[in-house]
Amino acid sequence: MKMFDKVSVLILCALSVSNAILQGTVDIKRLQGILEEGLKTNDVGSIYYSLRGLKQLNAKHSDVCQDLKNTKYDINNVEQVFYVTNAAQLAGCQNFLTPDVLKAPSQTLDKKDATVAELYYAVYSLKAMGKGSIYDKEDALKNLIQLLKKDDSAANYGFVFALCEHMGCGAWTAQHSEGIILSADESDSKALHFEGGLPVTSFLLTSILRTFKSLKMASPLSEEQRYKFAAYLLSRRSVNTPRGAALLLEAAYAIADEQPTPISIAFKDRKYITSEVDTIDFTVTDLIGRPIRSLKPEDVVAQSGTRLADDVVVLSKQPLTQKPNEPTTFVLNLSKIKTQYGMYKISLAAGTKSANFNVAVLGEVQVSHIEIGIGDADGTTSPKLTTITYPNKLNEKLQADHMQKILLKYTVKDKWNKAVTVQQSFVRIAPVGGEDEAIFVAEPDNTKTYKVELNVGTLSKHLNNLSGNYLVSVYLGDSAVSNPVHWDIGEINFNFGKDATAIGVSGGSTKGAVSRGPLPEIAHQFRVAEPRPARLVSDVFAAACAAPLLLLVVLWARLGVNCRLFPFTPAALIFHLGLGGSLSLYGLLWLKLSMFETLRYMVPLAAATFLSGHSLLRRLVSDKTKRV
Ligand SMILES: *[C@@H]1O[C@H](CO)[C@@H](O)[C@H](O)[C@H]1NC(C)=O
Ligand SMILES: *[C@@H]1O[C@H](CO)[C@@H](O)[C@H](O)[C@H]1NC(C)=O
Repeated sequence: MKMFDKVSVLILCALSVSNAILQGTVDIKRLQGILEEGLKTNDVGSIYYSLRGLKQLNAKHSDVCQDLKNTKYDINNVEQVFYVTNAAQLAGCQNFLTPDVLKAPSQTLDKKDATVAELYYAVYSLKAMGKGSIYDKEDALKNLIQLLKKDDSAANYGFVFALCEHMGCGAWTAQHSEGIILSADESDSKALHFEGGLPVTSFLLTSILRTFKSLKMASPLSEEQRYKFAAYLLSRRSVNTPRGAALLLEAAYAIADEQPTPISIAFKDRKYITSEVDTIDFTVTDLIGRPIRSLKPEDVVAQSGTRLADDVVVLSKQPLTQKPNEPTTFVLNLSKIKTQYGMYKISLAAGTKSANFNVAVLGEVQVSHIEIGIGDADGTTSPKLTTITYPNKLNEKLQADHMQKILLKYTVKDKWNKAVTVQQSFVRIAPVGGEDEAIFVAEPDNTKTYKVELNVGTLSKHLNNLSGNYLVSVYLGDSAVSNPVHWDIGEINFNFGKDATAIGVSGGSTKGAVSRGPLPEIAHQFRVAEPRPARLVSDVFAAACAAPLLLLVVLWARLGVNCRLFPFTPAALIFHLGLGGSLSLYGLLWLKLSMFETLRYMVPLAAATFLSGHSLLRRLVSDKTKRV
């Protein structure tokens, strides 16, 4: 028995994948609007497709013969000639066109290398002007098959199938349709379309289905293929050109005319119930919004309904009722769950197909009263609670300091006085006349009572330590609640202790305060010098640096100074004095002189040293050569 259950569940799951009902229809009114606008343009293509789409709708339109005569188009372009001639045929004004309009189509038929598309345009241009029998059937089909061998795209098959409708080779179309349909691309295993998008899909579907009808053969589409093509067309329903609109309409009508037709279920308007209105209307139609004759009204059933929050099943197998005089409107009565607000998933079935719809049961909530009190933060005294009834405010301002805490307690009830929880429940504390605010989430306990404890010391951090008067408010909301609640309960005066400033006093919230008068002078300050080492350290270091000099003097004293070769000439004296002077100047630079002063003394000294040094060296060289 268990085993059997599992198998049947598996089978049900597998079925439900391909059994999805369509959700939505093609909006005929909107498409008709696009087509009517298209007629007013002066583009031959738009006029042609507009006329074609309006003919599909059997809609009346203004006289366009004069416009057609005046539109500009390229008479040598066979596609544009096709638009003009076929638009003229649809509008019944072929006699407005000059006969030379058929020059390009005739030439195309004589061309050796015409493409399938060009042949299609040429043949149908001639046909529109009453020159239909020009194309020979046997040879023509052979020729077309040759062309298909070169390029067997879905689009080309579409042109050949359409040509066959004219040439009477429908049997060939019937023979090749199945293969073409099987070659359609599938997306998400939900939608089928041909390579080339809506134009090719529409072109192929309409000519194949027309051909099968004219041959009085059963449709080549399986029910599943019908649903999947319909799903693709629905995904393209936002087209906004006359061409797109005409092609979408033609394909949608072709699919909707199939039997059994794909079924579509959609919300008629509202997606929710409230305590006043307890029903939701659905439309059950074919792809283009017509009633489905083959469907028995009692086969439209809400298979199941579950609450999204906890998966509790709230209804099963509840039939919908068809509205009298409105064969496409089916009413789901949800009065059974109107007291339990929330989001629900309803599975609707029409015959063997089904789809899921999310609906909301909107409820009203109320808070009859709130208890509020101030107590010690460490819990030594239990707070004295004041009860306020909705929508009143506290009679007097409460006082609280940083050693205390505030306590808030409330229960949310539905319309029938049953305690409920809501998705959002907040307590907001904001300064009276200030900007900062602190918002706290209130969580319900398991008796569905909301309790909020706020430590005033902690609160001060969120409120910039600004003591003063604060407004306390409670907010309640839920996606399934039709009356969100905002209740200002009253004011509390907070004293956040010695570190705090008062609201509005400068130093605290100076945000936005404008200061007038002179600003304090800006004084530049150099970086403070790094601390120097102790006197002893620098003395020892200086002595260490001077040690080699001392050594030199000591060695001179021991060895005696040998000045025998010293040339006692003025140049030599000046040179050595100059060198000594430069070194002294260097010492002075370290001790007292600035760089510029040093340079000023250095220039004459250096010049004298250079000149005397030069003559000294010359003298030394000449002495040496004399001695040698
Ligand atoms: C829905 O059903 C309830 C009882 O089942 C009934 O009282 C109520 O009138 C129904 N609502 C509508 C709009 O028919
Ligand atoms: C508020 O005062 C507390 C000391 O009581 C201090 O630690 C904190 O930084 C202050 N916060 C602000 C925003 O001034």
